[in-house]
Order: sequence, then C-alpha cells, then structure tokens
Amino acid sequence: MKRGQVELARLIRTHARCVVLTGAGISTESGIPDFRSAGGLWERYDPTEVANIDALRRDPRRVWDFYALRLEALGDAEPNDGHRALAELEEQGWVRAVITQNVDGLHQRAGSREVVEVHGSLREAECVHCAVRVPMEDALASLPLPACPECGEILKPGVVMFGELLPAAAIERAQALAAEADFLLVVGSSLEVHPIAALPGETLGAGGALAIVNRGSTPWDSRAELVLDSGAGETLRGLAAALCIVETDRSRRSDG
Ligand code: APR
Repeated sequence: MKRGQVELARLIRTHARCVVLTGAGISTESGIPDFRSAGGLWERYDPTEVANIDALRRDPRRVWDFYALRLEALGDAEPNDGHRALAELEEQGWVRAVITQNVDGLHQRAGSREVVEVHGSLREAECVHCAVRVPMEDALASLPLPACPECGEILKPGVVMFGELLPAAAIERAQALAAEADFLLVVGSSLEVHPIAALPGETLGAGGALAIVNRGSTPWDSRAELVLDSGAGETLRGLAAALCIVETDRSRRSDG
C-alpha cells in the first residue's frame, strides 16, 4: 500500500464518524466527464447557456439537448472501484454516509445506502410550475421539449441548475452530517461550487479533521490533514482492502 493510503486508513481507523463528500471526479473512471479538469464539460459547453435556470426559460431546447447528451453518456456508465469501495466501507461500518454532488446515481447502484444527493439527480424531470415529477425516461420519450403532463409547461431535468437553491432537506442533512462528522473525506471534487464547497468548514469548525483525494488542488488543501493527488478508484480500492475487517472488529466498531 502507498504511504498516503496507509495514512488515510489510519485517519479512518482513529475517527468514529467518517462522512465522505464526492464530486464528479469519482465518476470519471465510469466514463462520465467531470466539469473543470482538462476536457471537462465546462470546457466544451457554457454552463450559463445549458445549466442555468434562466437558460431553461430562454432556450429550453438548448438545455434539453445538453441533458439528453449527458443522459446518453450516463446510459452505459457503471459504478467503478471508487463507488464500490465506498459502499463496502459503509457496509463494514467505516463510513456513515456519502454526500454527493453527482446526479448519476452510481453510489446507490454500487450499494451505498446513506446517500445525500445535494444537486438532485437525473432519475426524474420536474415541473417548476406545478411541482409534478416524471420519470426521466418519460421526459426523454417526448424530446426535444418534454412538457408537464399536468400543466403543459416545459419540464426541467431533476438537477439543481445554477441560479437555483439546493433542495432544503438535502442541504440541511449535508450540513448536519458534516458538522457531526469527526472526519470528512472529500473525493473527486474541485470544491469550487457553494454552498457545498463550504462543507469542510462545518467539519473543521466542529473540531473534525479533513482529508482530500483529488487530482489537482482545491481551496481547502491547506486546511486538510492529508491531501492525496491520486486516482479516486485506486485510492479507495486500496483503502477498503486495508480496512477490510473480521467479525470481531466489526462488533468493536458497531459499539463505537
Ligand atoms: N480521481 C481523482 N480526482 C479526479 C478524477 C479521478 N479519477 N477525475 C477527475 N478528478 C478531479 C478533477 O481534477 C477535478 O479537480 O475531480 C475534480 C472534479 O471537479 P469538478 O469537475 O469541478 O466537479 P465537482 O467538484 O463535482 O463540481 C461541483 O459544479 O458544475 C457544477 O453541478 C456541477 O455538481 C457539479 C458542481
């Protein structure tokens, strides 16, 4: 095991309440592009044109064309080693919950149970006028401009768009989890987008510790006890292998 993974395993072993915050970087190994690294989506598309609530009002066709492309890329995506390792770490009692900025649903498909989707998901489309929600496959069946079955208004993909507030319940749960955590592990996020980018401050402010696994720097690196510029999949796979515990340890942790 690499030295960084040994240190990360020590940090998880010595903290009782570990919460993980993930971003698009954990899904790139499933073939889903992230946003801000080289070749990311915002290098090819202007988020103000395709991922902003005003753009949906101004040019809904352009927004749905973008999300139809994202959904196509999602169609073949499978959970990768990083998603599976986090599900295993939760199953064995090392991770309490995953807070994810991702809308791809891969954490749940990998088996994670306690997942907080702070930016919504692409499982559904919703009507901003009458709050009706429809399965995304129904919306895709009526491209290029899916309309609400109730009021006829153009639907919105079920994700949080720039210019929108995050779902209140999700952000409150995420902030509570981060404040209660004595260890927050960030994986695959540039930590550029608020309010989620402020979550490390909740953990640190409550006396907890922070570790970051990310290719490239983040604004929180100087506050982290450990920063690993390494791949999410390989790092988390090594971590799960190191922490794989026998029955006796499991009971010890469940009393923890
Ligand atoms: N392993 C580790 N890190 C990786 C990997 C990988 N395999 N692949 C990419 N990364 C890193 C990138 O270098 C980048 O620093 O993951 C980070 C992803 O950052 P962003 O692309 O900014 O994605 P994210 O932090 O999730 O963005 C937050 O911004 O556009 C909005 O709603 C969107 O939820 C998204 C939010």
